[in-house]
Amino acid sequence: MEIVLSGIRPTGNLHLGNYFGALRNFVKMQHENQCYFFIADYHSLTTHPTPENLQGNVKQALVEYLAAGIDPEIATIYVQSDLPETAELYLLLNMNAYKGELERVTTFKEKAKKQPDNINAGLLTYPTLMAADILIHRAHKVPVGKDQEQHLEMTRTFARRFNRMYKTEFFPEPVAYNFGEELVKIPGLDGSGKMGKSEGEGNAIFLADDPKTIRKKVMRAVTDAGPTEMNAPKPDPIKNLFAIMQAVSSPDTVAYFDEKYNACEIRYGDMKKQLAEDVVAFTEPIREKILELSSDDAYIKKVMDMGKEKARASGGKTVSEIREIIGFRP
Ligand code: TRP
Repeated sequence: MEIVLSGIRPTGNLHLGNYFGALRNFVKMQHENQCYFFIADYHSLTTHPTPENLQGNVKQALVEYLAAGIDPEIATIYVQSDLPETAELYLLLNMNAYKGELERVTTFKEKAKKQPDNINAGLLTYPTLMAADILIHRAHKVPVGKDQEQHLEMTRTFARRFNRMYKTEFFPEPVAYNFGEELVKIPGLDGSGKMGKSEGEGNAIFLADDPKTIRKKVMRAVTDAGPTEMNAPKPDPIKNLFAIMQAVSSPDTVAYFDEKYNACEIRYGDMKKQLAEDVVAFTEPIREKILELSSDDAYIKKVMDMGKEKARASGGKTVSEIREIIGFRP
């Protein structure tokens, strides 16, 4: 079985875009691979050095991933700082990570521009920490978005470099886990681009939104005056509504409104009402699970402890082998 690893930002508020992008695939993937999911709380300090509610954010992320279907008995889901061996591997990898290559990383340059008063060493070595996350379980595959591809490339560089320097084949070179067709892009409700948390109020439908909020957001989605000729191409905002419908509604429902559109008989109000109900039906079981898990601290602690134990079994072994390879006292 292949080892697959994914890092999760410590924030809640997952939306439909996250669900149909990565989450749903994670849920499937856990049955076909040996999966590690971890919540990247060390990483969050590179941009938020004195976090207000670190544990709360970590818990919220965990709750939402579990509610969406990650099974802690099947996969290993843990908190990054519960595996402090990560920090040791990070230190060791940093000895062979060069300033020049780190400075060339796009995300570093972007973040440095965004926080010019806090261009800290953690920010510069973010890719080394990420490499440590991946290499500590000797993962083969990592599901990453476009923005993380360069980091994965660096991980391969660090792995190759270590193997060469120590004349070993200890680290596999991890590649991107590609969801292919399964990766469905969900647009936002504001008529422009993709669904995103930072795209402005009302653009995203969160898995934790209550039915009333969902109905309000969907009814306010951007549309236009309607088609004026038969079989007209759909402008972006309309295409977007259909794309969301395709994800959550039955094929019959989509076909029904598609025909109405093509015949210039569509009433967006009706379409939105249907869409809102289908979104609610889709998200409601997840929301209920989120509510249930949020109030079950004992269970959440149990999941965290279990994840920590499994992560340390794997990560501890890697780091002790690395120590031996490098030549520290056993
Ligand atoms: N950098 C990733 C992000 O911003 C999070 C992350 C940290 C990660 N370590 C990782 C992802 C290791 C995959 C593997 O989303």
